[in-house]
Amino acid sequence: MRKPTENPDIFKKRRARVIAGLKGAALLVAAHPEQIRNDDVHHQYRQDSNLYYLTGFEEPESFLLIRPGSSAETVMFVRQKNVERETWDGFRFGPEGTKKEFKIDEVYKIEDFEIKMIELLKGFDQLYYCLFKNPEADQLVQKVLTQLKRASGRTGYGLLDIKDADTFLGEYRLKKDADDLANQRKACEISAQGHVAAMKYTRPGVNERQVQAVLSNEFLMKGAGRLGYNHIIASGASATTLHYNFNDQVCKNGDLLLIDSGAEFNYYSGDITRTFPVNGKFSTAQRKVYEGVLKIQKDLIAHVKPGVYFKDLHEMGASRLTDLMLELGLLSGRKEDVMKANQHRKYYPHGIGHWLGMDVHDAGLYFFKSEPRPIEVGMCFTIEPGLYIPIDDHSAPEEYRGIGVRIEDNIVVTANGCDVLTSGAPKEVDEIESIVGKGLT
Ligand code: GLY
Ligand code: MN
Ligand code: MN
Repeated sequence: MRKPTENPDIFKKRRARVIAGLKGAALLVAAHPEQIRNDDVHHQYRQDSNLYYLTGFEEPESFLLIRPGSSAETVMFVRQKNVERETWDGFRFGPEGTKKEFKIDEVYKIEDFEIKMIELLKGFDQLYYCLFKNPEADQLVQKVLTQLKRASGRTGYGLLDIKDADTFLGEYRLKKDADDLANQRKACEISAQGHVAAMKYTRPGVNERQVQAVLSNEFLMKGAGRLGYNHIIASGASATTLHYNFNDQVCKNGDLLLIDSGAEFNYYSGDITRTFPVNGKFSTAQRKVYEGVLKIQKDLIAHVKPGVYFKDLHEMGASRLTDLMLELGLLSGRKEDVMKANQHRKYYPHGIGHWLGMDVHDAGLYFFKSEPRPIEVGMCFTIEPGLYIPIDDHSAPEEYRGIGVRIEDNIVVTANGCDVLTSGAPKEVDEIESIVGKGLT
């Protein structure tokens, strides 16, 4: 017998908030589909972030339906208990166990989805549901909607009005409360510990794969459930590939190592990037690029407070990085002309950061239609400026070719500024130089 991983009251509280915001519409959230890796072997299962956010329930083939104002406001459909399947694949809560352990008003077996849903959706004018994430779930929903339409006969009413559940729920997930933040902080703390272990382990001759092993080991040993995304362990010029994933090369003396890696704790992800010299000592050219990016990153973090537009942080990052490119001689000419022609995108092709939470690139709007949105207390995001100079870029000064630097921290917005959740991972030059290669403990 398993128990829910987290306190079910956390999820009940979230559901109550969502119910208040639904304004009488119903909400349906499907489990993430299982993914086959090959033959009868599956990829590790991870629940859909929205379904987990509202229930804490981690099994596939399940749905949550919310019906504001109805006698059974929360309804779930889950797999039945099955001795044979549980012998092979593990424990299932079943309808009764789910109702009791997860504090859901009514729970039915998944086989009853169609028939029950037709009853349960009667009287609703609108349904929030996210189409095209789970094709099997979509098929079931299609059948329910078609039958509901038929049931309305010649009234002239068409299909139930569907609105996107991801957009709706994203706004709840974006602003973190104390329960969200406890998990977010822990994910960031474990992620930082992983980066410290990786720095201590790294020295010339180790393989990127071994550094990956150190990170994974530290994450899991410190309580992470899994990774927030695939590790990026990029030595030398591979650091100029933004999402380098091979992680199989030898880290060479004189090269930098860029590590972008984050642990997931209770479905919340950290997302840290650190760049440091494999041999523990920055060369003059490496240091110039690194210190330039670091200063910008720290200034951006200092600029964060409620009311600042996220878009302005993007623009400030691009502007300051362009200054750095001009200073290093990577670009020449007037800054306005360089930026207007997007020349700076050659060395900085991504944005300054993204919302962070249950998904590493988390849910939530960045703009209201085309209006920029101000940041608010409780929002978490990354600040991750970078500069990437391709090894074969003959227009760049030779000493900078093949250098890729990104420095990424995770922050939560507070009343007067922000808290850096990933400060456990060193980023000052002297701190880095004092721990790289100094052993695992
Ligand atoms: N780890 C992916 C990113 O930084 O966005
Ligand atoms: Mn990121
Ligand atoms: Mn990252």
